Amino acid sequence: MKGIILAGGNATRLRPLTRVTNKHLLPVYNKPMIFYPIQTLADAGIQDILLVMGGSNPGDFVRLLGDGREFGLREIHYTFQEGAAGIAQALGMAEDFADGEKIAVMLGDNILEDNILQAAEDFKKQERGAKIFIKEVKNPRSYGVPEIEGKKIVSIVEKPEHPKTNYAVVGAYMYDPSIFQVIKTLKPSARGEFEITDVNNHYIREGSMTYEILRGWWGDGGESFDSLLEAQNLAAEWEKKKRRPMAP
Ligand code: DAU
Repeated sequence: MKGIILAGGNATRLRPLTRVTNKHLLPVYNKPMIFYPIQTLADAGIQDILLVMGGSNPGDFVRLLGDGREFGLREIHYTFQEGAAGIAQALGMAEDFADGEKIAVMLGDNILEDNILQAAEDFKKQERGAKIFIKEVKNPRSYGVPEIEGKKIVSIVEKPEHPKTNYAVVGAYMYDPSIFQVIKTLKPSARGEFEITDVNNHYIREGSMTYEILRGWWGDGGESFDSLLEAQNLAAEWEKKKRRPMAP
């Protein structure tokens, strides 16, 4: 399975922090934001990653990440998204890189405590379709929100005014290679973007979507100043917990 990290977009919500640098290079405690999703994919056993960059300083990503060996990757590839017409548009740029393999995708501003190795192993065995991750949150209106009946997700609504559940769809996704055909059928949403939620609803309608509920904390560092601060505090706690000696 190949990995794709999306770090395009304009990050207007975080100005002036993002006036001269890219959102994904901002510090989250002791690391730049982009280190977290790269580590999550590397820990899930993924060795080849494509980074889709955007904005005005793409060279900074290359200077920071180099060939990706620091993360135990075999290779890191780079490409550039002109404009910011949505997550699904950015993902569509990965078709040649994926080369017919399944893919694991992470948004460059998402920080997960959980290791998703088992989910990746399960998805390798899944016959077809997609897998998403959800997490209970206090402010579902800021995210894609799943509607759940019994144990089944029956649809996802992007940033609903009246959320049907308190779950958010996390920015980590797994797809079979049919995704690139699905992306080609999408139309821009009311906010003018090619939405990943429309891709996910396709697999839900088709009956080939599975999901996992995250246990550990999840942060979307790019959603607002408060979500960035929360991600920074959680990352600090996490780091300190790792450093604390184990109780005898
Ligand atoms: O964080 C999880 C949420 O991410 C999901 O719950 C939503 O369903 C999903 O739409 C997305 O919502 P956001 O409003 O947070 O997406 P945002 O525009 O902030 O973009 C998230 C990342 O995606 C960003 O850090 C870089 C990448 N991106 C985004 C756009 C619009 C691109 O690479 N290219 C783009 O054109």
